[in-house]
Amino acid sequence: MSVHKEIRKVTTHTLQEMKYSGQKISMLTAYDYSMARILDASGIEVLLVGDSASNVMAGHETTLPITLDQMIYHASSVIRAVKRALVVVDLPFGSYQGNTKAALSSAIRIMKQAEAHAVKLEGGAEVVESVKRILSAGIPVMGHLGLTPQSIYKFGTYEVRAKEEAEAKKLKQDALLLQEAGCFALVLEKVPAQLAGEVARSLQIPVIGIGAGNQVDGQVLVTHDMLGITFEFKPRFLRRYLDLHTSITEAIQQYISDIKSGDFPNTHEQY
Ligand code: KIV
Repeated sequence: MSVHKEIRKVTTHTLQEMKYSGQKISMLTAYDYSMARILDASGIEVLLVGDSASNVMAGHETTLPITLDQMIYHASSVIRAVKRALVVVDLPFGSYQGNTKAALSSAIRIMKQAEAHAVKLEGGAEVVESVKRILSAGIPVMGHLGLTPQSIYKFGTYEVRAKEEAEAKKLKQDALLLQEAGCFALVLEKVPAQLAGEVARSLQIPVIGIGAGNQVDGQVLVTHDMLGITFEFKPRFLRRYLDLHTSITEAIQQYISDIKSGDFPNTHEQY
């Protein structure tokens, strides 16, 4: 008799239950099938197909150039790999701002063509009508406040946000607005830990931090950063769990050297 172990899929409700019961939520970015398979099988709860693919996968300086079609390509690859995690996909720059109809149609394309589970978008009051319109189609939305990289040319730097009272006040208002609009969770990026903790405690929905301290309900990192594949990027909040840049470089150098010396392939590695 074969025993099938049923996989309990992570849903937006799971995350809500985790917040109520005080269990921390783990989230990482994924952009391709092979990595997503490893992350999902490792037990990560949420996979974010982030528009950071623009930097990490395509080598752009900012997240602005990535297109909706490209996000759908990455998201489809991730979805094909995932058995358990909740897959959230970033709406890219230009696909939702200032036009609720366009926002809905972008979100629908992501849900329909990539078969994603939820979308994420950046901003507060400025995008709340888009959030509501997307939600009206039954699509779960994750918010994103603090450092919002799609607005880099407005901010001018990637420095910590909301250190001043006025910006902190707006952030708290925006967080509440997004919760009231119906967002199922919120990402807070690069804001003071105390402010992030205050927001997390004041909201009913889970708050996932990146560079926002440990008083929030969960953490997200860019996978390529925490595995040390990228190496120039060294913000204080980043913990590197591996130095894959060095390991991969050494492996490739060994491979080259084995080819040059005639050691690869050996007699066991041929037909
Ligand atoms: O695109 C991304 O990777 C993100 C995370 C940094 C939260 O939005």
